[in-house]
Amino acid sequence: MGKMNGMVALITGGTRGIGRATAEMFAAEGATIAICSRSQAALNQTAQEITAKHGVNVIAQVADILDRASVEAWIARVGNAAGKIDVLVNNAGGSEQRVASGSMKQVYAVDAISGDLPPGRFEEMADAEFINAFNQKVLALIYAMRAALPWMRKAGGGSIINVVSMKGKQPLPRVVSSSVAAAAAMNLSKGLSLELADQNIRVNVVALESILTSQTEKSRARWAPNKTMDEFLAPRNANIPMHRIGTSDEVAHAIYCLAAPLGAYITGQVLCVDGGGLRSW
Ligand SMILES: NC(=O)c1ccc[n+]([C@@H]2O[C@H](COP(=O)([O-])OP(=O)(O)OC[C@H]3O[C@@H](n4cnc5c(N)ncnc54)[C@H](OP(=O)(O)O)[C@@H]3O)[C@@H](O)[C@H]2O)c1
Repeated sequence: MGKMNGMVALITGGTRGIGRATAEMFAAEGATIAICSRSQAALNQTAQEITAKHGVNVIAQVADILDRASVEAWIARVGNAAGKIDVLVNNAGGSEQRVASGSMKQVYAVDAISGDLPPGRFEEMADAEFINAFNQKVLALIYAMRAALPWMRKAGGGSIINVVSMKGKQPLPRVVSSSVAAAAAMNLSKGLSLELADQNIRVNVVALESILTSQTEKSRARWAPNKTMDEFLAPRNANIPMHRIGTSDEVAHAIYCLAAPLGAYITGQVLCVDGGGLRSW
């Protein structure tokens, strides 16, 4: 018998990368899964594959996390079908790093602060960059959490896991837009964890640095089109204490630990899945 039997788990962005790995892990433990993304074809294929492999029900519906109405419609459908929601993983989203003039270097939370950083200054950053980061990593979380909370109360409790960049804890120059949005998501999660603790609803953050997903290939193609993936990753890996990039399954397992029943006493935490990249403690 799976450790999540009878549980209903929502994952935003469940069709690939970390969201897909999380959906697979929850399904393997017997949970009913609900996933959303912006592609119905990818949702259909993912749902079919997960059901075939794990024999669980998958509710898959198009919803854009930036479109409150579509997120509310997806969550209402799941709540009405299942009668409750136990777990919400706010996973979808991304942040576009600005290409400062002449820059061909992506900035990571593990980079050394050195003269090697790309050109470009805070004053040159467009408002749209800050607004996009906040929409992706703050407002989108608020939409989904607001919609899911009434259904978690029906379940007698729940677990919310917000997936953001470790830059929220370890900011670097040149990328302050995504850093402040991730920090805001962490602060929001901590505040809500206190507000919701006596309702048995937990709120935690999984904070990431370098995880191999489709995002990594997108970044390589954008920042280092002439390099192989190994060449592209080498400078970043050098600054990660474990000297390697992480996997989606490793992140999914951290999310699972916070979602599964035995995570019941953990709330208000930021769990960094970063190969030791966070320099403070
Ligand atoms: N990979 C890393 O190194 C890393 C580092 C720091 C933080 N993170 C965070 O981890 C999360 C997962 O990243 P990943 O690397 O697994 O990404 P990924 O491989 O690109 O997968 C993203 C998933 O989210 C969906 N999605 C994207 N935008 C969406 C939107 N507006 N509305 C609904 N669904 C959306 C995608 O499907 P569609 O595109 O079809 O909608 C896909 O299913 C993201 O929030 C990312 O910011 C990742």
